[in-house]
Amino acid sequence: MSERKIKILLVCLGNICRSPTAHGVLQRLAEKENLANIIEIDSAGTYGAHVGEMPDRRAMAAASERGYDLGFIRSRKITDQDFTYFDYILAMDHANLADLTLKSPSNHQHKIKLFLSYGSLQDQEVPDPYYGGKEGFNHVLDLVEDAAKGLIHHIKSSA
Ligand code: 4NP
Repeated sequence: MSERKIKILLVCLGNICRSPTAHGVLQRLAEKENLANIIEIDSAGTYGAHVGEMPDRRAMAAASERGYDLGFIRSRKITDQDFTYFDYILAMDHANLADLTLKSPSNHQHKIKLFLSYGSLQDQEVPDPYYGGKEGFNHVLDLVEDAAKGLIHHIKSSA
């Protein structure tokens, strides 16, 4: 594998529910696969209303039940520099994808994809769980765990 780190940015609307969940799950999987030294993972939101906050308590609780710690994550808004810095910019839903595509310089648009394009399930989007109940947060985890495995497999096979 090359020395250069592969940099992955996970993006949702608020960066307090879905992308922090994906961040924590992918981070732990990378550690388990001994890839933490070659993969850099971060997350951001397209909407800045929660900047500086920890992940939503419900996202932290659902993740914790499966052994993931999201407590190190603080919400931030995507910046212009992110489009240059990251190799993969992965959106949780079509609205995030459209926002990112609008903000991105054209020479970096090839980096922007749906996160679930790496998954094995039929779903294309990670649905926003913010206004729903606990089962929505568990569904986010199911989708994210599946896509994280696919993304790690993709990185291993293309490195
Ligand atoms: P996320 O969820 O995009 O998965 O972090 C949301 C968080 C906050 C809001 C909407 C969705 N909000 O409207 O404040």
